Amino acid sequence: MIKAIILDFDGVIVNTDPFHFNSWKKVLRYYDIQIKFSQKDYNLIKGFSRSVSLNKIIQSHDLQGINSELKSKILQKKNNFFLQSIKYISKENLIPGVEEFIVNNKGIYKIGVASASANATFILDKIGMINLFDVVIDANITNKKKPNPEVYFKCCEKLDLSPKECVVFEDSLNGVYASKSGGFVTYGVGNTEIKDDVDFFITNFLDFKLNDINS
Ligand code: G6P
Ligand code: MG
Repeated sequence: MIKAIILDFDGVIVNTDPFHFNSWKKVLRYYDIQIKFSQKDYNLIKGFSRSVSLNKIIQSHDLQGINSELKSKILQKKNNFFLQSIKYISKENLIPGVEEFIVNNKGIYKIGVASASANATFILDKIGMINLFDVVIDANITNKKKPNPEVYFKCCEKLDLSPKECVVFEDSLNGVYASKSGGFVTYGVGNTEIKDDVDFFITNFLDFKLNDINS
């Protein structure tokens, strides 16, 4: 029996992807790292933690000469650019229908957030939604990052439930690997590239109801 809904943050609750994508482009320019970083490149790192994302960019573009000191500078600067860019983030940046979906299910199901971002709690607080959730687990609390299922396990542990009692909503392939390998029924949201890897797929939360999940 499903007793909880666990949502990924970036791309499922708030549409932060354009902010992340632009911050990566900006930081690569800032350090004069001359590669073409396209939306396709960003999609490949979506859902990974910041430092794993940078390692993937380095590997896939064969960038020599980026030592660990420069890596930490890039990571810090990328986050600074990201934080500057979300200064005016608001409920206008929500994935369509997600707030209504949460509000309508609150009290019927427990509601959790499981994110690979260190900024998830901060942004939920900033847009005035933090109190809607029974538990929020973000990258400040986890050791292993998605695609490892730890963040999802921590979330259901806090809710005192097993994976079989939770349903997960994800938008990135790495996130789907995390939830599926943890044994969670998984809904894909928005990103058609994950359609074949999830149990169910929705474009967004407009008019979506979880009616039949326990019948
Ligand atoms: C999410 C996004 C990723 C982002 C990651 C790191 O998982 O989908 O694209 O790289 O968070 O977040 P942070 O806010 O800690 O840099
Ligand atoms: Mg996501």
